[in-house]
Amino acid sequence: MKKERILVTGGTGYIGSHTVVELINAGYEVVIIDNLSNSNRDVLKGIHAITGVTPDFVEADCTDLAALTKLFETYPDIKGIINFAASKAVGESMQKPILYYRNNLNTLMNLLDLMPRFGVKGIVFSSSCTVYGEPDVNPVTEEAPIKKATSPYGNTKQISEEIITDVINAGAPFKSVLLRYFNPVGAHPSAEIGELPNGVPQNLIPYLTQTAIGIRKELSVFGNDYDTPDGSCIRDFINVVDLAKAHVIAVERMLNDKCETPVEIFNLGTGVGLSVLELIASFERATGVKVPHKIVGRRPGDIEKVWANPKRANEVLGWKAETPIDDTMRSAWKWQQRLRERGIM
Ligand code: UD1
Repeated sequence: MKKERILVTGGTGYIGSHTVVELINAGYEVVIIDNLSNSNRDVLKGIHAITGVTPDFVEADCTDLAALTKLFETYPDIKGIINFAASKAVGESMQKPILYYRNNLNTLMNLLDLMPRFGVKGIVFSSSCTVYGEPDVNPVTEEAPIKKATSPYGNTKQISEEIITDVINAGAPFKSVLLRYFNPVGAHPSAEIGELPNGVPQNLIPYLTQTAIGIRKELSVFGNDYDTPDGSCIRDFINVVDLAKAHVIAVERMLNDKCETPVEIFNLGTGVGLSVLELIASFERATGVKVPHKIVGRRPGDIEKVWANPKRANEVLGWKAETPIDDTMRSAWKWQQRLRERGIM
């Protein structure tokens, strides 16, 4: 039997597409809205190749209230939302703050505005460990203080969490689950979907896999003089499929009235911190492919070390990161090779 319909904003994007697959696998009806600003329609084919289902797709911008209203009128059975639609490049947000505030905040406010009108029971929000800034203590729990954001991108995540909380405290008739992701990496093991950055990648893994396949000459490791065992930064690299599965659990909680509080917050990470150099070593071990790299200066704005305490998600959601990092690296490599086979990169 089919379950409720879920609206996935930004559903053709990296984390969005993996989540759509898990929602379909769990029996949900899905409708995607995406403006294709950082993805393309072929992602729908990838989703179909994995699940046998092509989700309904609306090409529109969530900042367009009229288009969003029309979508809810067309699909009056939407019961839950997962909001991935957002701009996400830290550096770009420094150059174009208005774009970031407009896209990320207007999208959210439009959704929150329409939810009561159309009887939507809950919204899962894509937040980030960026809200913790440089944490005083690792691993980071959800109780760690929120630090002043160092970029407009990070600020939109903090403000969005506050907007959702304020709206719900003011009596809005829905629930929200805020998921704070650490560093999502890897691709679906089928290599039918994965991360597809525009232009020169800013994030570590796409830069690494593009170097491994020869598109980039060498990977720059930003700093080896941090206060960490090997001097490079430490992150919590979480497999994107594991991450996607947490969204299905969050949706089930909201729709089945299982939330303990109207706004719930969960860290989504592995609980293990890995350095940039350790990650490169993992990739080389898992794939047998060498990654030419050199140490360069620190990247301004980088956090030295941050990894999650995922105990709350483990215990309350019954969710746990399962995929070993080497498997995740193999999936990222398989995806990069698939892009090459398809002549995309
Ligand atoms: C950043 C954001 C995070 C956001 C994520 C995805 C902050 C503090 N973090 O994470 O909120 O969700 O991007 O957009 O704003 N590195 C290299 N060489 C490279 C690229 C990266 O050494 O070519 C290093 C970085 O210095 C860092 C690590 O790899 O130590 C991870 O970098 P990256 O993948 O860009 O993610 P974050 O900066 O951790």
